[in-house]
Amino acid sequence: MKKTSPARPVLSVAGLSVRFRMRGGRHVAAVTDATFDLAAGECLALVGESGCGKSVLASALLGLLPANAETSGAAVLDGDTDLVTAGERVLARTVRGRRIGLVPQSPAAHLTPVRTVRAQLEETLRELTGVRGPAVGPAARAAAGRAAFPADHLDRYPHELSGGLAQRAATALALIGDAPLLLADEPTTGLDRELVERTVDELRRHTDRGRALLLITHDLAAAGRIADRVAVMYAGRIVELADAERFFGRPGPRHPYARGLLEALPEREFAPIPGMPPELADLPAGCAFAARCPRADERCGLQPSFENGVACHHLTGVEIHRAEEPADA
Ligand SMILES: Nc1ncnc2c1ncn2[C@@H]1O[C@H](COP(=O)(O)OP(=O)(O)OP(=O)(O)O)[C@@H](O)[C@H]1O
Ligand code: SF4
Ligand SMILES: [Mg+2]
Repeated sequence: MKKTSPARPVLSVAGLSVRFRMRGGRHVAAVTDATFDLAAGECLALVGESGCGKSVLASALLGLLPANAETSGAAVLDGDTDLVTAGERVLARTVRGRRIGLVPQSPAAHLTPVRTVRAQLEETLRELTGVRGPAVGPAARAAAGRAAFPADHLDRYPHELSGGLAQRAATALALIGDAPLLLADEPTTGLDRELVERTVDELRRHTDRGRALLLITHDLAAAGRIADRVAVMYAGRIVELADAERFFGRPGPRHPYARGLLEALPEREFAPIPGMPPELADLPAGCAFAARCPRADERCGLQPSFENGVACHHLTGVEIHRAEEPADA
């Protein structure tokens, strides 16, 4: 069940930016000025088109970016550890797996190729929990079950798994440490609808036990099912941060891009947003959505500031809804 009153912040992200240095002095502005809090017991869904910076944001929180990345801003975990400035030693020993769990976007690449799923689950149980001896086997089977990983596939190696099974194995591994913060990057890729729902419901149960969840997903239906809040990212920036009920229900998104994302769904208007996102190595000076936005005008040549949960010069969504909705809305 979704919660409406999240507790203390587990993660406070403020002005987080990531730039990749490229040849010829160019840079890719993958994440710009991301600012949000995430509370214990809360699920925040991070959505946006491919390439907008969602995975880079998650990697920045875990110190998993390549050497050409420059990260600035702050991301404070539980009020005591800034993940941006914490060194690799701290991140490796005390943060990754223990304080932050990760369901990676490419699970096959994160599973150890020469060990079976059972061996990896058992090893992680020994490493991150107090489970020892004969209790390890049943605990590994239980961990697999939580992610709907079939028990009769436990002795397979990663290369013997389909994409969906590798995904479930990675989810099972990520849940074992029971970390206060879980980053789940596309945890339902390759799963059919029933398994999507089982997986996200398990993630929601994990959240309801007081954990914080950042759910990165293309699946807006999955986000709508379990998220408390939604962050919409476009060209590296969070352009809307909204309560999930308001976002998916009424009055709906306020940012034109966020509105376009929802209207593109087959069960809604089925009207894709025209055009393509800009190159992150060549962003316009003003609003990055201007070339695709039906509401763009000359003001949009200036970057809109993020205020009251939305970054847009024209809070047109509000007026649209007022005009469209009946008097009781
Ligand atoms: N090491 C790197 N060097 C240069 N650019 C990079 C690097 N890693 C990622 N990028 C760029 O950063 C941008 C954001 O990538 P990211 O993987 O975060 O997108 P995403 O929102 O997770 O997309 P998807 O939904 O497809 O997973 C992309 O333009 C990508 O090409
Ligand atoms: S700032 Fe302008 S171009 Fe950008 S989303 Fe708002 S109306 Fe559209
Ligand atoms: Mg990604």
